[in-house]
Amino acid sequence: MFDTMTITKGLGAVCGSLLVFLLFSWAGDGLYTMSAGGHGEGEEAQAYTIPVEAAGGGEAAAAEGPSFEEVYAAADPAKGEKVFAKCKACHKVDGADGTGPHLNGVVGREIAGVAGFGYSDAMKAHAGKPWSPEELSHWLENPKGFAPGNKMSFAGLPKVEDRANLIAWLATLN
Ligand code: HEC
Repeated sequence: MFDTMTITKGLGAVCGSLLVFLLFSWAGDGLYTMSAGGHGEGEEAQAYTIPVEAAGGGEAAAAEGPSFEEVYAAADPAKGEKVFAKCKACHKVDGADGTGPHLNGVVGREIAGVAGFGYSDAMKAHAGKPWSPEELSHWLENPKGFAPGNKMSFAGLPKVEDRANLIAWLATLN
């Protein structure tokens, strides 16, 4: 009996401390939740920041740059002529083909449309529609992405301003 009592007491003590422990941790949780409640307010604030972030995302997108169309509308052909220095090794603008086809008249010209130039199949796959400024921009931003397997060894013009200015200059050669 005595032993059982001791065990019971012991168990009681253990249960008691467990309970106290639980209470404390609940209290702690409560506090935590309260501070998390604080965070909750923060979260409310975050509920604001999320749209703000979304707006920020919009800004980021804006920071990434206005659309090609917008930049193109205000493009500077004189600056574009300087960008063309990167293309000169392969492209001429006097009607003669080099490593690449001549580029005078390219804006609005059919893709892969220079008779007698040996285009790659990748380039010919795009034939049948004209080079709009937008298409040219896509091509020049990432030639490999636009026509995988094409034979123009050029990494691309990442800056939308460069592309817009260059295409605006090319358009003056039509
Ligand atoms: C290393 C040589 C090289 C450089 C540099 C180069 N190109 Fe090309 N380009 C080519 C070749 C080769 C082709 C033909 C690709 C094919 O058929 O796969 C081509 C194709 C093109 C076409 C398609 C023409 C058509 O008739 O459809 C355009 C537009 C073009 N290049 C513009 C440019 C511009 C603008 C630059 C400079 C920013 C440039 N290229 C830089 C070699 C080059």
